[in-house]
Amino acid sequence: MCGIVGILGTHEVAPTLVEALRRLEYRGYDSAGIATVNEGKLDRRRAVGKLVNLSDLLVHEPLAGKAGIGHTRWATHGAPTVGNAHPHRAGTVAVVHNGIIENFRELRAEAATHGRKPETETDTETIAMLAAQYMDQGDDPVTAARKTIARLDGAFALVFLFDGHDDLMIAARKGSPLAIGHGKGEMYVGSDAIALAPLTDRITYLEEGDWAVVTRAGVEIRDEHGNLANRPVKTIRMDATRIDKGGHKHFMAKEIAEQPHVIGEALNHYLTADGTGINVPESLPDFRGVERLVLVACGTAYYACVTAKYWFERIARLPVEVDIASEFRYREPPVTDGTVALFVSQSGETADTLAALRYCADKAAHVVSVVNVPESSIARESGTALPILAGVEVGVASTKAFTCQLTVLYLLALKAAQQRGHLDADALTDRLSALRSLPGILNHALAQDRSAKKVARKLAEADDILFLGRGLMYPLAMEGALKLKEISYIHAEAYASGELKHGPIALIDKRMPVVVMAPKDKLFDKTVSNMQEVMARGGKVTLITDEAGLDEAGDGVTNTLVMPTVPDDLAPILYAIPAQQLAYHTAIAKGTDVDQPRNLAKSVTVE
Ligand code: AGP
Repeated sequence: MCGIVGILGTHEVAPTLVEALRRLEYRGYDSAGIATVNEGKLDRRRAVGKLVNLSDLLVHEPLAGKAGIGHTRWATHGAPTVGNAHPHRAGTVAVVHNGIIENFRELRAEAATHGRKPETETDTETIAMLAAQYMDQGDDPVTAARKTIARLDGAFALVFLFDGHDDLMIAARKGSPLAIGHGKGEMYVGSDAIALAPLTDRITYLEEGDWAVVTRAGVEIRDEHGNLANRPVKTIRMDATRIDKGGHKHFMAKEIAEQPHVIGEALNHYLTADGTGINVPESLPDFRGVERLVLVACGTAYYACVTAKYWFERIARLPVEVDIASEFRYREPPVTDGTVALFVSQSGETADTLAALRYCADKAAHVVSVVNVPESSIARESGTALPILAGVEVGVASTKAFTCQLTVLYLLALKAAQQRGHLDADALTDRLSALRSLPGILNHALAQDRSAKKVARKLAEADDILFLGRGLMYPLAMEGALKLKEISYIHAEAYASGELKHGPIALIDKRMPVVVMAPKDKLFDKTVSNMQEVMARGGKVTLITDEAGLDEAGDGVTNTLVMPTVPDDLAPILYAIPAQQLAYHTAIAKGTDVDQPRNLAKSVTVE
């Protein structure tokens, strides 16, 4: 999604704006631009493609000024062109925007009656046109911005800059996050604390509906009713905003490698010192009184929920419904007061997941979220927000966040089982002890990277790839297919192994690689039968299993990746690693942009 930055500085801001935008690249974008006010005059530079193109432009056409705004655009309305790139301008107003203005056509028609003609296809330009219209009518910038913001329907985070005003920015948020940074004689606005980290660690997060008047002297924040709002200034842990590749070629490689460490961090946070219990916030309800658990998320986070369903139902005997947020929010499902609604989101800003949470907010007994950004909208609107402590995840393809989500969800299932009387103290201690040893075991899986790379070279030649899994491995097969398709652009899909004969087996021939994820568990023999059916039809099988599985079913398969042996319930966390490695190396073989794959954004803050 788009990235926003604004600076009221004491030095020339153009280079700092571009650097801040670079720290927002991970959100995904296809054009970028900045605007500054220099000697009272507003001016812009914009470029299509990567930020390097904007930097090159600024070398040849420098932009002076100590006040400025910047933007990385992920195209929604209008193709990625210079004309559609932000900042957009109308008259004496410039604006950068993240989100979608749903009534922009109506507002654009209104502006036309005042003689203003649009120059672009974007909804964002309409924001500038409306503010300029109010200023034409004699309003000052703050009034013009306030009136404009009040007319906008949809989701937005935006920052205004005005010709003739080099000590003023107006910022507003509704549906997309926005942070205010406090400097020394300087003030900043950014999509998140990561963008502003080199400038300040003192951050104020705007709340839903807030708008802010920012000058170098400070910020005045008003809520959606226009009342002064006192929002806290937080000091952000700088490691929470550190983004570097740590010597790896890609962020994704670094984040795959970080998994033993960050899962260990999560375990340190949630396990009691003696390792026999699980710490959860007081606000979390006792699961004895819970009749049903609803798990809602998107993408990889959804596959974490599908995995958790098996754990909650099998271990805690708690009925669970899982759904993707974009369907859940419009299906209007009955949510009774015996229901706990739980939302999983790495970014904590995914629009569909946030909307689903809001649907449940006044219906469910309690709203829980499992998030990687504690200050995010989803965390802030939850009754209980459980951090996954994965650290900043920059690669668009989620890796360490997924395994940390699984870890926290597994702990929650154990907690629920204990409270509901289905797990005694000894059994809990045994499970926690096995979980405690998982980070070390993950290192052995990471060591299989070279084998995964060899298999990936063959997968890279395919046009279509099938992933199969049963039980807890079924959501892992879905996650493996998503990982691979989103960064290598090869069509991949996943099926429950038991579904093969109900249609997908028609796809099998020697051109269709089949990746089977199957530790030697209770369902292994059934999966072996499925594998035989695939191989009998010329299918090339890559089997991801453990030593016992290899011994029993290794003959005839084309490739094998052998994992350490772990308790069945912990296999999803372990088997995520080879799935990630296969996707990573296949993408490398295909030469795609591993960290910022085409068309994708790290956080989908629009529908
Ligand atoms: C995962 O690799 C994808 N980038 C995507 O499916 C992602 O998981 C999904 O957009 C949900 O994001 P969230 O966890 O931030 O809500």
